[in-house]
This record gives sequence, C-alpha cells and structure tokens, in this order.
Amino acid sequence: MRDELRLLKSLTGPFPAFEADLTPDEPRDLFSAWLRDAIEADIMEPHTMVLSTIDENGAPDARVLILKNLDRRGWHFATTGRGPKGRQIAANPSVSLTFYWPQLGRQVRLRGMAFQAEAHERYADFRARATGAKAVALTGRQSEVLGSSQELHDELALQHRRLQEEPDLVAPGWALFIVMPHEVEFWQGDAERRHQRLRYRREKAGWLKERLWP
Ligand SMILES: Cc1cc2nc3c(=O)[nH]c(=O)nc-3n(C[C@H](O)[C@H](O)[C@H](O)COP(=O)(O)O)c2cc1C
Repeated sequence: MRDELRLLKSLTGPFPAFEADLTPDEPRDLFSAWLRDAIEADIMEPHTMVLSTIDENGAPDARVLILKNLDRRGWHFATTGRGPKGRQIAANPSVSLTFYWPQLGRQVRLRGMAFQAEAHERYADFRARATGAKAVALTGRQSEVLGSSQELHDELALQHRRLQEEPDLVAPGWALFIVMPHEVEFWQGDAERRHQRLRYRREKAGWLKERLWP
C-alpha cells in the first residue's frame, strides 16, 4: 500500500491566489466567498463537512454531515438529537467542523460551541426533508445495532404509512444545531508548498486575524 500511496499526487494545483491582507473582518464573510467559489467550481457536494465531537470518555469522534445554513449565529447542521453525536453535544458542546475543497486546495477548520436552534426552526427543517429522509429519521434509531435488513424494511414501511396519514409529523428529538465558532482557520494550498494560513480568533472587541506558518 505504501508504494501505491506514494504514487498518488496531492495538491497539484493550480489553485486560486489568496491575499490574506485583503480578507474581510468577519470569518463568515470569507467562508461564504470560499463556499460560493466551491459551488461555482462544481466541486462535488461542497456543503459536506466533518463534525468532530468528544464522547463521554473524552475520546474524539467524527463524521461527515451536510451544512444546512450559515447566518450571523453560525454554521447549521441537522440530525437526530438522540444518537451518539446529539448525546455527546448535550454533555459537551465543544465541537469542530472541517471542510475540504480539493480542486481549490482549500481547507477551513472551525472550533466552537454547538447549541440548538429554536423549536420552530427545527420543525421547519424537518418538514422540508424528502419523504425517505423523514421516514428514516422517524425510526429514531440512528447508530443502533441493526438486527436484519427485514427489520429495517418493516420499520421504514411503517414510518412511510405514518407519514401518509400525518404528513406534518416531526421526528421526536429532531435537532438543528448551530456552531458558533471562536476560531476559524482558512488554509489555501499551493503546489510549491508555500501554503497560506489565516486564522481568525474571537476577542472581546471583535475578530483578531493572524497568519500562521505552513
Ligand atoms: C455525505 C454525507 C452526508 C451526511 N449527512 C448527514 C446529516 O446531515 N445528518 C446526519 O445526521 N447524518 C449525516 N450523515 C451520516 C453521518 O456521517 C453519521 O453516519 C450519522 O449521523 C451517525 O453519526 P453518530 O453515530 O456519530 O451520531 C452523512 C453522511 C455522509 C457520508
């Protein structure tokens, strides 16, 4: 495997130029610009990100999620609040988010605190989901051990029937989390390995911007 890996190329570029001195005061504005660049560059699923949490033993846990929104409060994602990540966040709201847009050589890392959106926002998020996604969420059993495919099939058929009868159902415990960062780092790769890094840190007076060694 080592030889196969050595043959693979990484960060070949060319990548967009990045002027750290010409960046906005708020990391949200730079993030929005980078996400729009990723959408325009046709990067597959540019709104996917890794959410890292800490479990009850202090061990890290991580998984891929979809970014649902971005506003002045922070970065939003939706999930069942009753699975492992929901329980982990309830016990310890410190989380991180990681984005990577390979064709642009760009990574963004956020560290911050996750909190729940208002109930009406959670309901609206759930109601906007596709029927199949609603049915899976209504089982309320994400990350539990599955006995058999038949068990899943029967449970989903049951939830589809429930949704036909009550289309406005919302899965109990459905959660819309918002991550409010205290640190956001933008990493612009360079084919010559002169990568550029810009970190925003939240201070009382506003955001402090610092460049970091690659
Ligand atoms: C591309 C992709 C997008 C995903 N989006 C979500 C999502 O938005 N919400 C979610 O709960 N799980 C999503 N998942 C599944 C999670 O990665 C994970 O398997 C699940 O949430 C269970 O995580 P947990 O056991 O740590 O709670 C996605 C997985 C992939 C690969």
